[in-house]
Amino acid sequence: MNKNESKNLDKWGYKEDNKKLSERIDVHKRFSEKDIDAWMLKIIRIKGNEKILDIGCGDGKQILAFGKKLNLDGRIIGCDISKNLLDKAKKIAKKNKINASFLLHDINEPFRFKDKEFDFILAAFSIYYAKYPEKLILEIKRLLKKGGRLFIVGPTPNNTKDFWKFHSKIINKKIPQISLRRRARIHDIFIPLIKKHFRNIKIDIFKNTIHFPNFNEVLKYHSASLLFVESIKHEKEKKIFLNKMKKEIEKNIKKKGVFDIKKEVYGILAYK
Ligand SMILES: C[S@@+](CC[C@H](N)C(=O)[O-])C[C@H]1O[C@@H](n2cnc3c(N)ncnc32)[C@H](O)[C@@H]1O
Repeated sequence: MNKNESKNLDKWGYKEDNKKLSERIDVHKRFSEKDIDAWMLKIIRIKGNEKILDIGCGDGKQILAFGKKLNLDGRIIGCDISKNLLDKAKKIAKKNKINASFLLHDINEPFRFKDKEFDFILAAFSIYYAKYPEKLILEIKRLLKKGGRLFIVGPTPNNTKDFWKFHSKIINKKIPQISLRRRARIHDIFIPLIKKHFRNIKIDIFKNTIHFPNFNEVLKYHSASLLFVESIKHEKEKKIFLNKMKKEIEKNIKKKGVFDIKKEVYGILAYK
């Protein structure tokens, strides 16, 4: 990350690592019980000619899933703070002939778009990185047409709760406050703000289980998470943690055949 990219990241900010995001997505694809894209699409019901803004598009997971629903009159614009991830998203969009464009943008700054440009704005697993939640919600409202909709996806306070307990027990310390507060941010901060500034709010909860077949897959997934980065500070601590985790997970897999991590995310649909 260069200096310009990092200057706006505070305690809530996070510059997603290209490889780590792909690794988490890949694990979901291979071992999740359910498909989250199908769940989102069922709620959102994209019309072919819509103009969509994808906030924190990452490497283009939703650009691909949603962009495929658009016809030649529709367009999806992906924005992200990470140039690497945008480059990857661009390639995916081009390969799949999605009518998309991309913008390197920090959600803590105003967007350069005119008022009422979009039919639909999506923020999937990204809004909780914002420094100024109300400013961002108002900015989203400004960009939406009258009757346009916002869809926010992100963790409920119960997301991966059992696994976090397991992590805490193994490392023998409490989960860092910043991780807990980030996980609760949609519930504590964003839902009240959406209720204040939007109408016809509908909140769905998507429950999914990832069935890990072996320790290495859990390790790949967990070491690509913010909790891992925020709670394990030293190499020595990491080594002890990994040895203990391996032992516990392998015991569990021997008994049950798999090691499960339970996910729980909100899908919040709201209208301007
Ligand atoms: C967990 S990823 C989600 C990516 C994608 N929506 C998905 O679900 O696969 C979070 C994304 O938010 C982006 N992000 C974090 N802070 C940001 C900021 N201040 N401005 C713009 N994007 C940001 C990260 O770079 C990352 O791509």
